[in-house]
Amino acid sequence: MADTKEKIRVGLIGCGGISGAHLPHLSQSGDVELAAFCDVVVERAQKHAAKYGGAAYDDAAKMLADVELDAAYILIPTYAHGAPERACVSAKVPFLVEKPLGLYPDDLRKLAAEVEESGIITCAGFMNRYRKSVNRVKDLLKKDPALLLDGAWIGGPPLRKEGDYFSTQPIGTWWPYKEKSGGQFVEQVIHTIDLARYLAGEVVEVFAYAANGFNTKLPNIIQGYNLDDAMVVSMRFESGAVGNIMSCCAAPQGGGVFLNLWASHHTARFDDWAHHVRIFRDGESGTEEIRGDIDDIFPTEDRAFINAVKSGDRSSIRCTHADGVRTTLLALAANESLEKGCPVQVQYK
Ligand SMILES: NC(=O)c1ccc[n+]([C@@H]2O[C@H](COP(=O)([O-])OP(=O)(O)OC[C@H]3O[C@@H](n4cnc5c(N)ncnc54)[C@H](O)[C@@H]3O)[C@@H](O)[C@H]2O)c1
Repeated sequence: MADTKEKIRVGLIGCGGISGAHLPHLSQSGDVELAAFCDVVVERAQKHAAKYGGAAYDDAAKMLADVELDAAYILIPTYAHGAPERACVSAKVPFLVEKPLGLYPDDLRKLAAEVEESGIITCAGFMNRYRKSVNRVKDLLKKDPALLLDGAWIGGPPLRKEGDYFSTQPIGTWWPYKEKSGGQFVEQVIHTIDLARYLAGEVVEVFAYAANGFNTKLPNIIQGYNLDDAMVVSMRFESGAVGNIMSCCAAPQGGGVFLNLWASHHTARFDDWAHHVRIFRDGESGTEEIRGDIDDIFPTEDRAFINAVKSGDRSSIRCTHADGVRTTLLALAANESLEKGCPVQVQYK
C-alpha cells in the first residue's frame, strides 16, 4: 500500500458487539474511510452503513469482490472463522481479526499457512500486547526470564446483569455453547493465555481439569448450556518455566482478571482487565506501579494496523495472524487435554 494514499478504505466483516470498540475512533480518523459493512444478519450491516456511510452486504466474498478495500476487520464468532480470512487472502486485502482465531485446530493450521503464504499484512486482536504495563514487564523479563506464572479470569454466569443481580438473559447467542465459542477458556481467557506466551515464550505442553455441574440453574435458563464451570490448565514452557491458568464462569461474586509472574529477580502482578501492574524487585522495598491503559487500548491497536497498511511497515503490529493462531491452538489444546484426560503436546504446525 502506497504511503501517499490519503484514506484507507476499510470494510467490516461482522457488525456485532465488538464493532462498537473499533468503530467510534475509526470513524473519527481522518485517514480512514468506512467503505463497506458485512454481516450474515444483513440488518446489522445496514444499520452501520446508515450511520457511517458505505455499502451493506451479507457475504464477505461478495463485499470484497464488489468494493475496492485497503483493509478489512474480521469481527465474528469463534466458530465462523475460515471463509472470511480466505476471502481476504483471495482479494489480497490486509485484515485485523479479533480473537480467538478459530475453533478447529486442523483447519486453523492450514489457514495460518495460507495467510502466511499470501504475504498480506495481518493483525490479531490481542490488544493487551500494546499496553505500557505489559511491555515494561516484557523488557524486564528479557534479562530475567519468568519461571512461574499464575493467571485467571474468574466471573459470574454468562447472563446479563441487572444492577447487582444476574438476569435470565444469556450473554450472546453463541458464547454459552462450547461447540460454538470453544468455552470460556478459549473465548475469554485467551487474552491471559496470549500474555503468557508474549511474556514467557512458547508453551509446549498443557494438562487441563474442569469442574462441571455447579452452575445448577443455567441449564434450565439456557437450553443446551454446556460450558465448563471452571478450568485449571497447567502449562510447561519451552524455556522450562511452568504456569497455571484458570477460568471460572460460575462464581457470581467474581474474582477478576489477574496474572502473576515470578522470575529470579522480579515479580510482576497484573490486575484487572486494564492490566495495571505492580513490579517488585529483588532486594528493593519499593514497587513500580503502572496503570493499564483503558480508553485508548483499541485505538492504539487499530492505529498500529492502519499505519502498517498505509506504510507497508509491519513493525508496530505486536501480534500477526500466525502468532494469534499459535495462541488459539494453545487454548484449544487445553480442550483436547480435557477430552483425553491426559497432558497433550501443543501442535502448532
Ligand atoms: N478484544 C476483545 O477484548 C474482545 C471483546 C469482545 C469480543 N471480542 C471478539 O470479537 C468476536 C465477535 O464478538 P462479538 O461480541 O462482536 O459477537 P456478536 O455475536 O455480537 O457479533 C458477531 C457478528 O458476526 C456476525 N457473523 C457471524 N458469522 C459471520 C460471517 N461469516 N460473516 C459476516 N458476519 C458474520 C454475526 O451475525 C454477528 O452480528 C469474537 O471472537 C469475540 O471473542 C473481542
